[in-house]
Amino acid sequence: MTTSDHSLTPRRRLASRRQFLLGGAVAGVGAAVAIGADQLLARPSAPAALPEAEQLHGSETVMFHGKHQAGIDTPPQAHATFIALDLREHVDRDDLRRLMRVLTDDAARLTAGRAALADTEPELTVAPARLTVTFGFGPAFVARAAGTAPGWLAPLPAFSIDRLRPEFSDGDLLLAIASDDAVTLAHATRMLLKDARSFTSVRWSQSGFRRSRGTEASGTTMRNLFGQVDGTSNLVPGTADFDRLVWIDEGWLAGGTSFVLRRIEMNLDTWDEVDRAGREQSMGRFLDSGAPLTGTKEHDEPDFEATTSLGFPVIPDFSHVRRARSDNPDERILRRAYNYDEAPIGDAVSRSGLLFGSFQADVSRQFTPLQRRLDELDLLNTWTTPIGSAVFAIPPGCEADGYIGETLLEA
Ligand code: HEM
Repeated sequence: MTTSDHSLTPRRRLASRRQFLLGGAVAGVGAAVAIGADQLLARPSAPAALPEAEQLHGSETVMFHGKHQAGIDTPPQAHATFIALDLREHVDRDDLRRLMRVLTDDAARLTAGRAALADTEPELTVAPARLTVTFGFGPAFVARAAGTAPGWLAPLPAFSIDRLRPEFSDGDLLLAIASDDAVTLAHATRMLLKDARSFTSVRWSQSGFRRSRGTEASGTTMRNLFGQVDGTSNLVPGTADFDRLVWIDEGWLAGGTSFVLRRIEMNLDTWDEVDRAGREQSMGRFLDSGAPLTGTKEHDEPDFEATTSLGFPVIPDFSHVRRARSDNPDERILRRAYNYDEAPIGDAVSRSGLLFGSFQADVSRQFTPLQRRLDELDLLNTWTTPIGSAVFAIPPGCEADGYIGETLLEA
């Protein structure tokens, strides 16, 4: 997918998210051509590099307002923090309205690179670095708002592989905050939490990361801490499949979606004991290129029918990609994972894993059957353990005079 990640344009405050996704390459080429022409005409011996100021990513913004919330079809940023808040007992429907108005205002300002109202450190807001804030509602939020919750808005069914801990599970209100810059992210998180604290308390907070912006070509599929290329076969923004399988089209959630967050521990110590061939068999893909075991390039389609000279499937039936690929094309999800790496305790040398996030129009019809298949059989389960799980309804976006949650709270 081509994204404006590739372009090195300065302040582009007004770019819509769609422009952000699709138009950036064009803008980038335009800028490059303009600069090239400038160099040709006026400064023939000038170095070809762009001026330093134009190479900074800090000033780039992602439009907050729109039909959908930002942070879903946005190319993933380098850092993300997911926070689940619990509503305080006294909070009623009017309070929820007040809360969401304030948080929406904060998010709109901060994501545009402006200080929030009563911002205590306005200097920390000047480099939004594609900051996005995405809100989600848990079952208790919808109940307190006297709204109708979709059937899937509940804890997932129990899976045999689960070892869930309450400190990483469930919650009433989700703040998913992401930026290419960790300082910006920390400040935005603190401002939002300060404004939420009279209505909510923090239930859990989980942070994750991908490679830093600029360390490799934009659009490169991320690697998880097992070293695997992770995210190859995914729904692509701007396609009919994406629109159909991610966005909800009716009720107060029209223009919204659902979000599942699974905290999955990855045992790097036992993974260390597996040789390269074993690692590749467990996934069904090569570690270096991410190509399926039946192909040579990352995006080659896996051939699940191909067999070895001994008659065994080249991509084993127990491999993660075989199990995660359903025959039903509707059982697909938008994966958006982040690595986590906590300080090890005692004799361990790692405490790492994946914040496995996924967006889908219907959790029960898309996510749950996939997770069930992986629960039944997936060699990767040998080294991975889900230890947290949460499901949220993601309301649609809003216009500049509205607020996130208005379709629920003004109904
Ligand atoms: C720590 C846990 C996990 C790891 C390390 C992991 C890693 C991977 C990797 C490396 C791939 C192959 C490249 C790609 O297409 O992205 C993949 C594919 C996939 N994974 Fe996972 N995954 C994990 C958990 C899950 C879970 C919990 C689900 C869903 C319930 C899931 C669903 C999928 C799907 C749908 C695919 C694409 C399959 C296809 O080719 O159609 N994964 N995963």
